[in-house]
Amino acid sequence: MKALVTGGCGFIGSHLVRGLLADGWQVTNLDKLTYASNPANLGPDASHPALTMVQGDICDATLVRELSEGVDVVFNFAAETHVDRSLLDPGVFVRTDVEGVVSLLEAVRDRPGVALVHMSTDEVFGSLQAPTEATEDFPFAPSSPYSASKAAAELMVRAYSETYAMPVTVIRCCNVYGPNQHLEKFIPLFTTRALAGEAMPLYGDGLQEREWLFVEDLVAAVRVVIRQLPAAPGVQAVHVGSGERVANIHVARQICNLTERPLDLVRPVTDRPGHDRRYALDSSRLRTMGWSPRIRFEDGLAATVRWYAENAETWSVAAGEDFGGYFARQYGDRLA
Ligand SMILES: NC(=O)c1ccc[n+]([C@@H]2O[C@H](COP(=O)([O-])OP(=O)(O)OC[C@H]3O[C@@H](n4cnc5c(N)ncnc54)[C@H](O)[C@@H]3O)[C@@H](O)[C@H]2O)c1
Repeated sequence: MKALVTGGCGFIGSHLVRGLLADGWQVTNLDKLTYASNPANLGPDASHPALTMVQGDICDATLVRELSEGVDVVFNFAAETHVDRSLLDPGVFVRTDVEGVVSLLEAVRDRPGVALVHMSTDEVFGSLQAPTEATEDFPFAPSSPYSASKAAAELMVRAYSETYAMPVTVIRCCNVYGPNQHLEKFIPLFTTRALAGEAMPLYGDGLQEREWLFVEDLVAAVRVVIRQLPAAPGVQAVHVGSGERVANIHVARQICNLTERPLDLVRPVTDRPGHDRRYALDSSRLRTMGWSPRIRFEDGLAATVRWYAENAETWSVAAGEDFGGYFARQYGDRLA
């Protein structure tokens, strides 16, 4: 089987590429290599004989059309992904997360043999009051430029599917964590700062609740989904959630415990505007398809903290950016 994976040098994409190669796929990895990418995420598989690396932009319609020729599945995992940055520069989110998806839809729309699996997020539903869980047909109510761009992309997917009678699969996932995630994200940021004995900036009261899934459980979910790709036109949406919902402040405390650091390193700082309080997915459809998460949050978090403690040479090589400069801009005043 042949795959085009976009964003395969990012966090989740790199795990997917490695999983597909392990399963015997031939993989083309199209990645723009933005600041969020790290080719070292592929480890020894970077030189795997079944892997072709292409540096390029999913918005480049000619390139994606060329690369999707003859593949069985296009997996779109390329995106701008950091909510905080979407508040600073929404335009780049619209370009990659919306226009890039249209470019991919164009590439596959007259190729019925090519399946498209598009990665989306629980954030498209906005903040949910407990005990609500979003089912696959729950209404969108995004709060940030990031989540709005992901929701807009999904609307384009739906429109193409209706207009051109295309079967498309959309995976909406809860928060994912594990090795290879960029330092800007919550768990890597807090872990690496805790390891260095530095203050961890916790937004607001820290009671925002997120559902956490270990990245290997997501790759396992993708394997289940692609064994049951729809043949009929329409959007098959699938939710991937662990059901383990934890407040940020508890995650921060667990990281302190795992790194043996004092709890007072966690510093409450001014919250970000529009910060959603709670996400929660109903993932019963995927469970009936044969998937359930295997890694409990407590164990996955311990493994992740261990990975960051032991792999500084990998995670410190994020492409093309001075992370210290970004951190100072984002949190300097808040921590002062
Ligand atoms: N990480 C999570 O918790 C999470 C949760 C739900 C959904 N998602 C979704 O999963 C997908 C992957 O997320 P991630 O956390 O691995 O992201 P990431 O930021 O770690 O990686 C994104 C990758 O996409 C590449 N990229 C960015 N713009 C590109 C472009 N225009 N053309 C080609 N490549 C480009 C980057 O270089 C990078 O390698 C995204 O669609 C994201 O919205 C992530």
